[in-house]
Amino acid sequence: MAENRPNTGNSGGKSPKKLRVLLRTFGCQMNVRDSEVVCGLLRAMNYELTTDPADVDVVIFNTCSVRQHAEDKVWSEIGRISKRSTLNLPAGQAGALRYAKPIIGIIGCMAQNYKEKIFEKAASVDFVVGPGDIDKIPGIINKLSKNRLSMLECRIWETDSPRRPEDIYHTGFYEDKEHAYVVISEGCSNYCSYCVVPYVRGELHNRNHKEILKEIEGAVDKGIGRITLLGQNVNAYLNKDIDFVKLIKLVNSVKGLREFSFVTSHPKNTSLDLFRAMAETEKLKKFLHLPVQSGSDRILKLMNRGYTRKYYLDLVDNYRKILKDATLTTDIIAGFPTETESDFLDTYNLVKDTEFDAAYIFKYSPRPHTGAARFADDVDNAEKEKRHKSILDLQRGISNKKRCLKK
Ligand code: 5AD
Ligand code: SF4
Repeated sequence: MAENRPNTGNSGGKSPKKLRVLLRTFGCQMNVRDSEVVCGLLRAMNYELTTDPADVDVVIFNTCSVRQHAEDKVWSEIGRISKRSTLNLPAGQAGALRYAKPIIGIIGCMAQNYKEKIFEKAASVDFVVGPGDIDKIPGIINKLSKNRLSMLECRIWETDSPRRPEDIYHTGFYEDKEHAYVVISEGCSNYCSYCVVPYVRGELHNRNHKEILKEIEGAVDKGIGRITLLGQNVNAYLNKDIDFVKLIKLVNSVKGLREFSFVTSHPKNTSLDLFRAMAETEKLKKFLHLPVQSGSDRILKLMNRGYTRKYYLDLVDNYRKILKDATLTTDIIAGFPTETESDFLDTYNLVKDTEFDAAYIFKYSPRPHTGAARFADDVDNAEKEKRHKSILDLQRGISNKKRCLKK
């Protein structure tokens, strides 16, 4: 455990009270699940979880680094919390100012991205914990709160573990009474050139399939009927001789489970075998989120995606042939470095022809550590905005038309 503890005083002796913790989650489903895991660990240690920001002892931000905008939101939230919690102090308590604010923790992708540099950027932060170290959070809060009572200033950061212990997934705590997210793999080894995930979540690590099934059975025992299998690239799942196709068949056979789905799929690891298995697996929702990112072969290559426009379109054709009336959604990035009007039109036309049920469209945002960060971010913001809006409008029309047809 890394620690920085200038001794600023003494006193103390008060008995510790039950600490009230507020956990704010930003970003993807993986973060939603991680927050649940942290809540499960905190509950087991007798902390009180609250959603009321008015009276808290600890505020934890579970953060996202996927785009700059996601990080900006967190920095401004930290600023707001630190300001608010010091403003209400009666005059003449300047010495106690530092201790009047809640303990503030940054966990998740920004924690890993900035590590202890977070303390320089946001002086009010007390602890920083990366995705591999979330099991240590209850102990860290415990230590910080004890130090506060004895007026010791202390900052703690934990960002070095490549992997979290398996047992954190078995706290049995799920926010929803009907549905659970179940992580099947952590991290990603694809290194798409725009993506920060491999640098903040580490290389792909597959959970043991027996542990996954044990977790699902436990959730079903608690009355949960629906689950979503989670991973950055679920199709690359491999544990011993169990690949993703075998895994969905095993999950399908869990007694009491009513329905399940999975996200996210990578086209290069998505196969016709998977589509056939999806067709035969009666509990599996006929839904596929298959991010294409761009319709231009030149841009796909620069993105290091590992497939071509034709490969993607063939995959979609086969998906729709094998799984009739199945849902298909995608992600798209507008304004990747060097994207020309003609590259953009390739993407626009792919969206027009494919008629996705939904598409999530993002403006390219340069990310630290990534391959694309070496390229100039040369599509200006007005042009990115225009391309983003143009695909958004196109997709809105398609989604509305499909919704009307389904009614
Ligand atoms: N800029 C813009 N969008 C990005 N995404 C990932 N990294 C970036 C980035 N640097 C998008 C991709 C991915 C989704 C989760 O976020 O479309 O599929
Ligand atoms: Fe990022 Fe690509 Fe991995 Fe998805 S597949 S998490 S976009 S590196």
